[in-house]
Amino acid sequence: MLTKAQKDELVRQAVEVRNNAYCPYSHYAVGAALLTTDGRIYTGVNVENAVLPLTNCAEQTAIFRAVTDGVKSFAAIAVVTENAGMPCGACRQVMAEFNLEMIVLIADADGRVTRELTVAELLPGAFTPQDLI
Ligand code: THU
Repeated sequence: MLTKAQKDELVRQAVEVRNNAYCPYSHYAVGAALLTTDGRIYTGVNVENAVLPLTNCAEQTAIFRAVTDGVKSFAAIAVVTENAGMPCGACRQVMAEFNLEMIVLIADADGRVTRELTVAELLPGAFTPQDLI
């Protein structure tokens, strides 16, 4: 169960880190803040590239930073864009790898949360590690 203080802090950090997004091509800045089950927060932004398909989404940046630190247990992620846009399909799949019950908070650039849902709701019938066993 996420507290209001945890949600507020996640959204606050996602709003703030969004300023570091590297998006000279789309001009669509995305900030993410990922809460681990042991209470740490990892942030991420989208990082675009002149070779456009090499773009890394903000959610994936945050998750990859946590995994790099040896952390793979996640409770929630806040995703902040100008218009409270939804996570792309690739990001939903990357989230599904680790926790279908993870809470996803969608917020706009002012930190207004417009949606709160689980990864399972975002990606019904997900292909998961269990499918490879
Ligand atoms: N983007 C993300 O960072 N996360 C998403 O879930 C959707 C899209 C980024 C990728 C690209 O830099 C820009 O938003 C426009 O697609």
